[in-house]
Amino acid sequence: MDYLGDISIAHAKGGRRGKAVIPSETMRDQIDDLQRRVSKEIEEAGTLAELDEVRIKYLGKKGELTNLLKAVGSLPKEERPEFGAKVNSLREAIETGLREKSGYLDRKALDEKVRREVADVTLPGNLPEIGSLHPITKALREIVQIFYGMGFTVYESREAETDEMNFVKLNLAPGHPARDAQDTLYLTDTTLLRTHTSPGQIRGMLEMEGRLPVRFIVPGRVYRRDPFDASHSPVFHQVEGLVIDRHITFEDLKGCFLEFARGFFGPDTQIRLRPSYFPFTEPSAEIDVSCTICRGRGCQVCSRTGWLELSGAGMVHPRVIRNGGYDPEEVTGFAFGFGLDRAAMLKWGIDDLRVLFENDLRFLTQFEGL
Ligand code: DAH
Repeated sequence: MDYLGDISIAHAKGGRRGKAVIPSETMRDQIDDLQRRVSKEIEEAGTLAELDEVRIKYLGKKGELTNLLKAVGSLPKEERPEFGAKVNSLREAIETGLREKSGYLDRKALDEKVRREVADVTLPGNLPEIGSLHPITKALREIVQIFYGMGFTVYESREAETDEMNFVKLNLAPGHPARDAQDTLYLTDTTLLRTHTSPGQIRGMLEMEGRLPVRFIVPGRVYRRDPFDASHSPVFHQVEGLVIDRHITFEDLKGCFLEFARGFFGPDTQIRLRPSYFPFTEPSAEIDVSCTICRGRGCQVCSRTGWLELSGAGMVHPRVIRNGGYDPEEVTGFAFGFGLDRAAMLKWGIDDLRVLFENDLRFLTQFEGL
């Protein structure tokens, strides 16, 4: 530190051309000292900015080494070449030292950057949140698979239907008492939102143009002027089934429905048929399945009967067969229609229909991965 002062004095004196002369011993000490300090400081510089400070301190316009070089001029003439060479080689040594250190710091910074930014490919990725299938969709897909397995196809009919298809062709003529039971959402005097999937029987048969066998299900939304409560909704879903061929009997209906019920609700599921009435089937039946909660032993859900009502069914009425373009003298058939929402509720123990329509994630996420 003290030498610094000496150097500037020497320099100031050097300004007065030849008058002041610094002893060569002092000069030698200054060079040695500077060399020691600068190499230590280069070593200690931890960043490129710190290293630059070292460069300015020694090699800058007013830097210590620059001053030392100027001070050479104040030496006795015969000593100048020796010291001039010394200072210059020190300058080169400092420059080399700075260059090497800055290369090292550059590499170090890059290494750190690489380490910081390196991607751990084993970490789980940032997956966008994806939804899951709605229980109704899940239930329908399972049902479709089961019926595919029995050689059925899927016929998607229409939701806006004519009065003719929804009622008349299904043997529910105008004024027929059964029409009162269906509180209908009319679009015009003659068109309406279908009250059941049964008109799909007629449309599906007509598309088959008399070919056999007719074997399809019609899943879809249906509409009724109903309240929205735990067991009713103005919009719900049904799955209709129709088979028309030669020699189709009531036994085929029973076997087919049992196969479906076991596939959907579990292999130990039982079914029972009770006599009923529908205008488009004769004879008609209600199909019950053994209670999915108590497995038939009797519980609250099945009102201690062990049975749950699921589907309407029956042998297709000859008039309906004819309306579909087939000859009831030649072929027979069976049909069934059940509520998809109800089937899903029974399968998963859902006790309020409304949760299927409210899109509450707390409910829907329970079906993820199911
Ligand atoms: N369409 C009837 C309803 O909505 C259900 C039904 C009963 C469909 C008997 C059928 C059947 O195919 O044979 O209540």
